Amino acid sequence: MAESMKGLHRTHRCAEVSVNDAGKTVTVMGWVQKNRNKGGIIFVDLRDRSGILQIVFEGKNISEEGFAKAEKLRSEYVAAVTGVIQPRQGAVNTNIATGDIELIANDIRILSEAETPPFPIEEGIKTKEELRLKYRYLDLRRPDLQRNLIMRSKVATLTRQFLSDEGFLEIETPILNKSTPEGARDYLVPSRVHPGNFYALPQSPQLFKQLLMVSGYDRYFQIAKCFRDEDLRADRQPEFTQIDMEMSFVDIDDVIDVNERLLKKLFKETIDVDIELPIPRMTYKEAMERFGSDKPDTRFGMELKDVTEVVRGCGFGVFSGAVENGGSVRGINAKGQAAMPRKKIDSLTDVAKTYGAKGLAYVCVMDDGSIKSSFSKFLSEEEMQSLIKAMDGEAGDLLLFAADKDKVVYDVLGNLRLELADRLNLADKDTYNFLWVTEFPLFEWSEEQNRYVAMHHPFTMPMEEDIDLLDTEPGRVRAKAYDIILNGNEIGGGSVRIHQDDVQEKMFEKLGFTKEQAYERFGFLLNAFKYGVPPHAGLAYGFDRMIMLMAGQESIRDVIAFPKIKDASCLMSDAPNVVDDIQLDELGIQIKEEE
Ligand code: AMO
Ligand code: AMP
Repeated sequence: MAESMKGLHRTHRCAEVSVNDAGKTVTVMGWVQKNRNKGGIIFVDLRDRSGILQIVFEGKNISEEGFAKAEKLRSEYVAAVTGVIQPRQGAVNTNIATGDIELIANDIRILSEAETPPFPIEEGIKTKEELRLKYRYLDLRRPDLQRNLIMRSKVATLTRQFLSDEGFLEIETPILNKSTPEGARDYLVPSRVHPGNFYALPQSPQLFKQLLMVSGYDRYFQIAKCFRDEDLRADRQPEFTQIDMEMSFVDIDDVIDVNERLLKKLFKETIDVDIELPIPRMTYKEAMERFGSDKPDTRFGMELKDVTEVVRGCGFGVFSGAVENGGSVRGINAKGQAAMPRKKIDSLTDVAKTYGAKGLAYVCVMDDGSIKSSFSKFLSEEEMQSLIKAMDGEAGDLLLFAADKDKVVYDVLGNLRLELADRLNLADKDTYNFLWVTEFPLFEWSEEQNRYVAMHHPFTMPMEEDIDLLDTEPGRVRAKAYDIILNGNEIGGGSVRIHQDDVQEKMFEKLGFTKEQAYERFGFLLNAFKYGVPPHAGLAYGFDRMIMLMAGQESIRDVIAFPKIKDASCLMSDAPNVVDDIQLDELGIQIKEEE
């Protein structure tokens, strides 16, 4: 039977006592990790979020009734124990913080009994994630997840402290909004009061934080929930959290400065990593040319090399053809991998194909100087040698080439580079390489929509030197946008915003909106801009992603208390789910039968 807390007070968490407390009477409360009954003496490991404490029950120190209760303890029972701390009499356990002490119990209450959990409540278990997520409340008892969530809380607190010291105000923005589709798909909420009308959940607080700048709040931040109905991956959730900020009367360098200092503090004070400032910057163009990615992992080399000019007009139709069609030929040099078995090279080709490659051409420069290549028969000896030279190829190297439109070539080689780094363990896990990527294109051409779409969002300012290109060559206009990259992960992004209505109108025009359409969607922002708007800029971090990297986790699910799985459902609560007909009626909604 579960006993009550009446008259009982916890004095310490289990691992918040030490040898310095020897002789002290304390009361701890927690879950039974382990119970070893040796006859006249019972050892119980009691666990709470701070760790584990060994408790010793012995007839000479506790009433018969108390001893009988201790005998009943099973895994995950909740108990309160009062006793005296003493140096451990048996062997010291160096694996736990309290391994040199024990608690000699003189009183116990069983606060709750427990069924046997479906998996052990321990660190590093191999249990399938589906089962862990179904019983997430038990999974969250495990020390690994507790460490992650404690770190998450600490980073949130440090962020609030830092930004508040820098004059930022924490202001909440609404969750029920008007849908302003542009970007990911919205989550919609039907309105009861206005049948047929819907709210949209925010994809980010973007418009509201800009309005707060118009309203004169000057420096805003929020740890904000965002909702995006997009395909999920290990680093994406349908609802996720941003550290979101906006500043007035600033340009790029001001935003970067405050954020570099924030990152330095966060990484130092949570995981003792020193970030050297300033963080390097690289333009989007350079990132694509050197790494085939706008979020390069700079912990290792294997950079892309452009060999278009070397192979122009050569006898290998795949190469010369791509060049004739306005594409390029580029390669990467996998140093020392010439002896890679054919099977593995084939599997790299399969990887390349998933990124749109039609094939993957390779050259193995063997140790004896001979060449093994998928296309040597098409090249003269001389052409092959100049190609190898252009790739800095030496005996023992494996050279991989992609020939196609630039976009495909970058995507293929950028991802092959990551795949190889993974297979060959090239990226040091203890290195934290930060990088700002700047000067993103303002627009991206959308084949599906047959129009330009904003690469960041429609409020992003073009670079002053490119404004004239807006009319003539929109595809070449660069934006005052920046992403912050950590080890190949985009952990944040932002931009300077447009604050001139003529530029904003032009922007909408280029995006294919008429003035009416622009006002229909963003009218409240455009109207606000008529009443005096300060130049402003901002940034948002993917908070979950940042914590994932700090905690050395592979998935953001491991740093979110109650995450969703790939199909956006929650295995624990079974959300989403059907609702009562009455609820649908009130909303004026009828569900279409699936065909
Ligand atoms: P952006 O769309 O780049 O910018 O988002 C900012 C950061 O949020 C993280 N992120 C995600 N994390 C988890 N799951 C997702 N589905 C997901 N989508 C994005 C990324 C990303 O860098 N309002 C602008 C910011 C600004 O301009 O100030 C915005 O939302 O780490
Ligand atoms: P094929 O002449 O089709 O047998 O191709 C010869 C080699 O070129 C094979 O290794 C193909 O995988 C490779 N290849 C084919 N298309 C491309 C391409 N677009 N880029 C790079 N390599 C390719």
